[in-house]
Formats: sequence, structure tokens, C-alpha cells
Amino acid sequence: MDDRDLGEIVVPADTLQQRIVELGHEITADYEGRPPLLVGVLKGAFVFMSDLARNISLPVEFDFMAVSSYGSATKTSGVVRIVKDLDLDLSDRHVLIVEDIVDSGLTLAYLRRNLEARQPASLEVCALLVKEGLQRQDPDLRYVGFRIPPKFVVGYGLDVKERYRNLPFVCVYEGSDA
Ligand code: IMP
Ligand code: MG
Repeated sequence: MDDRDLGEIVVPADTLQQRIVELGHEITADYEGRPPLLVGVLKGAFVFMSDLARNISLPVEFDFMAVSSYGSATKTSGVVRIVKDLDLDLSDRHVLIVEDIVDSGLTLAYLRRNLEARQPASLEVCALLVKEGLQRQDPDLRYVGFRIPPKFVVGYGLDVKERYRNLPFVCVYEGSDA
């Protein structure tokens, strides 16, 4: 696993930043008068959430959740375990889940059900990346950054075995251990 395993750039750094400015403006307009609680899904979403939040001109609050899905690194089984739960109570909060990437949609479907049960005032999802054509469950995404081809990608929060999260762009991973 080294830099020779990195393939074509799928979303360049400047394109990411431009789109995140747009998403921030959209969210600012939509949540005027009812500031959202941003719920980041660790670890992958931390880079996106940090840039997104700085483009939202509202008094947002933050919380984080960590989940692990059973199955191989590249395929989720849909059976999800909460590794770190939220610190805050969601009742009467306008919750916006911030996700790095939606592949099968199974992780998000689980999260939605789980958070919905805590009776927030509203619950929406903002996903930076959505893989084309793969969703087995309709994840009902309110905000989407980019639709990308169904290839394994790294960078901008996304990893292979904890590496490449700090790349400022998203690119294809061509190593054998994804
Ligand atoms: P899903 O349940 O199949 O939608 O999988 C979603 C989770 O799998 C994401 O939150 C990521 O953690 C991980 N994942 C899916 N595709 C990729 C990828 O291309 N690169 C890195 N992680 C991925
Ligand atoms: Mg994730």
C-alpha cells in the first residue's frame, strides 16, 4: 500500500471545495431559523464535515457517531454496530447526518432508522459522494455532493486501512488490499 496504488482523480480538490461552498449556502438557506445539529459519521466524514460547517452561516452544533459494519472492507452486510454513540439528546433537534460516501446505502438505512427512533424534529442526510447505481436501499438523500462511478476511492476522509484520509482530493484506489 503506497502512492503507486493511487489511480485517477475522481474529484479534484478545487472542485470539492467549490461544491462544498454551494452545499453550505443551500443548507444555510434551508435551515434559517432552525439551526441544525450536524451528526458526523466517523471516521470518514470528519474532513467533509469540517469544511462543510465552515460554509454554513448558522449557529450549528456538532456531534459524532462511530459505526462499524460487519463484512469485508469493501462490502457492507447491512449489519451495523454502534461503536461510539452520540453525546446529545436528539429530541426536538433538526438533525443533519453528514456522511462521506454512500455505497449500498445499508449503513445509512440503519442509521436513519436508529436516529429516527430518538424522535428528532427533523432528520435529513448530506452525503459528499454517492456511488452510481449501487444502492440496494433508497437512502433518501437531501443533499449530495457528487455522484461517482462505482469504484473504490480514497482521500478527503476516505481510507484503506486508515491511510489516505488526508489527501485533499478523491481518487481511485488500485491496490490489491482495498
Ligand atoms: P454502504 O453501507 O455500502 O453504503 O457503505 C458505506 C460505508 O462504507 C462508508 O461510510 C464508507 O465507510 C465505506 N465505503 C464505501 N465505499 C467506499 C470507498 O470507495 N472508499 C472508502 N470507503 C468506502
Ligand atoms: Mg463511513
